[in-house]
Amino acid sequence: MSDPFRLDRKVALITGSSRGIGLAVAEEMARAGARGLVLVARNAEALEEARATIEGVGAECLAVAADVTSEEDVERMVAAARDRFGEVDILVNNAGGASFRGQLKDMRPGGWRKMIELNLVSAYLVSRAMLNACHERRPAGAGRRRGRLPGGRRRRLRARRRAPRGRRLPRALGRSRSD
Ligand SMILES: NC(=O)c1ccc[n+]([C@@H]2O[C@H](COP(=O)([O-])OP(=O)(O)OC[C@H]3O[C@@H](n4cnc5c(N)ncnc54)[C@H](OP(=O)(O)O)[C@@H]3O)[C@@H](O)[C@H]2O)c1
Repeated sequence: MSDPFRLDRKVALITGSSRGIGLAVAEEMARAGARGLVLVARNAEALEEARATIEGVGAECLAVAADVTSEEDVERMVAAARDRFGEVDILVNNAGGASFRGQLKDMRPGGWRKMIELNLVSAYLVSRAMLNACHERRPAGAGRRRGRLPGGRRRRLRARRRAPRGRRLPRALGRSRSD
């Protein structure tokens, strides 16, 4: 059985990955065999250090300085990821946080909006841009096509799916053999 924790040949984009949890996730993904990692944060210098860390683990790495609350930055980030790696398999919407530590009654509406932008709107912007990029790459219906199986095996599989569990299974299989 294949190891569910292996990420061989996968490409992942992790927002907020210049430090903290995001960088730790990127490192673990690199150790799990990911082919490529896209790191995203606003501070370019910190990102470069993070990129060196990931490359030290042996994965290819692209660092994109971008603000995940900016639609323009998010589009640029997704385009850069696609240019470098083609398809991205895994998205980790990790960027977030709260700079305000006081009580709600003391929080100004502007601060509340910033928090919602960083923790909620950003996940929507990044997820939407990634999904749109996936759909652009895959024409409608692609990926849903069934693999071709030899006729006999296909019929047996179909019969097994139709048959209730238990005693009718051999009969269903027998019928499929005589098709
Ligand atoms: N640490 C905890 O105990 C804890 C608990 C619960 C939930 N979380 C959540 O887990 C996530 C990571 O937490 P953490 O403690 O690892 O945070 P952290 O150490 O503060 O790191 C945050 C990362 O996000 C980046 N970032 C912040 N704002 C950004 C923006 N607008 N655009 C792009 N990147 C941005 C930061 O880089 P730049 O500043 O350079 O952009 C940094 O790389 C957050 O969503 C946090 O809310 C953490």
